[in-house]
Amino acid sequence: TVRRPLVMGNWKMHGNLQENAALLQGLLQAGFSAEEARVAVCVPAPYLAQAQALLQGSAVHWGAQNLCREPVGAFTGEVSARMLADFACRYVLVGHSERRTLFGESDHDVLQKVGQALQAGLIPVICVGETLAQHDAGTTEAVIAAQLQPLLAGLAAADWTRVVVAYEPVWAIGTGKVATPEYAQKVHAFIRAQVAEEAAEAAQGLQILYGGSVKAENAAQLQAMLDIDGALVGGASLKADEFVKICRSFR
Ligand code: G3H
Repeated sequence: TVRRPLVMGNWKMHGNLQENAALLQGLLQAGFSAEEARVAVCVPAPYLAQAQALLQGSAVHWGAQNLCREPVGAFTGEVSARMLADFACRYVLVGHSERRTLFGESDHDVLQKVGQALQAGLIPVICVGETLAQHDAGTTEAVIAAQLQPLLAGLAAADWTRVVVAYEPVWAIGTGKVATPEYAQKVHAFIRAQVAEEAAEAAQGLQILYGGSVKAENAAQLQAMLDIDGALVGGASLKADEFVKICRSFR
């Protein structure tokens, strides 16, 4: 593939200074090279300084799990894109299903957040995916198309060269139920085709990650699929050994 794989850990709301240090040391010891997949971790905001201090100059990048849809102002408790850029974040997750379902983020919020990230020079990792009910009703493609629609309408074609998309079937997140590689491939190809309608060239270079119960034991089968360009890893990214194995499965 022309696309360099990207494997990203999403720690969610886990960790503390001591555990993080051990985990990050484990990743540094792996000594990832430029020929391997790009590796990144999305850490809780209070630990961005720690990630920066330990990872700066290494092959492991870091990012945040969320950002504010507004650039600056009276938004108590929020963290802006510029603040994330101050800690040299490369990535920021946008519209993770936990943000959408537990914190009421809409497709419109996602578009605004992607805009903020791009303006600050961050790479937004836009998460999409269907729930179990939507999956069982056979509406997966319609759901994904609806999630992508405001982005396809609101972003310029060139913006698609500066974003990453993550497909995470909600029924596979933290459940141990990984999508079959064939099923995931079909949805990834659908996402790429949707983007191609607005940005044909960028769509070919767009990294589309799979997320949902990725483990060392299923990573190789996923990576074999043409349109799966990497993984967004939750639970398994909290164990250095396993996360390193997953990173090394993508090539
Ligand atoms: O962002 C990561 C996903 O929500 C996947 O989580 O690997 O624990 O299923 P998981």
